Amino acid sequence: MHSPIGIFDSGYGGLTVLKEIQKQLPHYDYIYLGDNARTPYGNRSFETVYQYTWQCVQWLFKQNCPLIVVACNTASAKALRSIQQKDLDKNFPGKKVLGVIRPTTEIIGNYSKTNHIGIMATNGTVQSKSYLIEIEKFFPAIDVAQQACPMLVPLIENNEFENEAAYYFIKKYLDELLKQDEKIDTILLACTHYPLIKKRIEKFLPGNIKVIAQGEIVADSLKDYLQRHTEIEKQLSRDKTVQFYTTDSAENFNNHATIFYGEATNAKHIEL
Ligand code: DGL
Repeated sequence: MHSPIGIFDSGYGGLTVLKEIQKQLPHYDYIYLGDNARTPYGNRSFETVYQYTWQCVQWLFKQNCPLIVVACNTASAKALRSIQQKDLDKNFPGKKVLGVIRPTTEIIGNYSKTNHIGIMATNGTVQSKSYLIEIEKFFPAIDVAQQACPMLVPLIENNEFENEAAYYFIKKYLDELLKQDEKIDTILLACTHYPLIKKRIEKFLPGNIKVIAQGEIVADSLKDYLQRHTEIEKQLSRDKTVQFYTTDSAENFNNHATIFYGEATNAKHIEL
């Protein structure tokens, strides 16, 4: 039976995570859902992000996914805990939903020599304080400064990230972040869109500051999770397929997705 791993994002950003997961775990089947009709989630309220995320997660479970990765920081920050604690056992016993914040915060402290980390993220992720709370649990000695970067997702989604306007905002956010704490030696890109501008960010920074994207970290963590949870791993089908679904126009999705996924997609439209 077809039992893929579900990957969910508010739009295209989760494709950067899917790519890394497929690199590490190529034998499974995958199904990607982008809620492009309602993206971006970054400025929306907790209640709205929760409702949208829960709808998408339910749809993926109905496609027979034993396990879903919420590959969106905003949704992980604002909706994941409620889904895991309130909804999952009641509605889909035995199924699992993982996010991107926990695996990242478990390891991010190991990258810093100065114990000073900077976070770039959407407004929603910053306001949730999820990164501050989680990093404190695993690395209490580390100072974390956060910078909301609300212009970056729209610039990236519109393929306008390689021009002077985009560079202006990237530099402005980096300056504001480093002004908060000049000892920062590690900057985490805590938004699944930002890997597309990682190289540009690095160009604005001195060589001693590392820039970390999440995809590989999330993929490592999923691999480890499946080794530890054989009851889930056994249910996954292994035909190396990947399907793409979007709540907006499939044509738009296919036109935009390549810059995130690195290859062409053949998406289908769904109504939730
Ligand atoms: N994918 C989202 C994230 O990682 C950003 C896009 C959005 O705001 O919906 O935070």
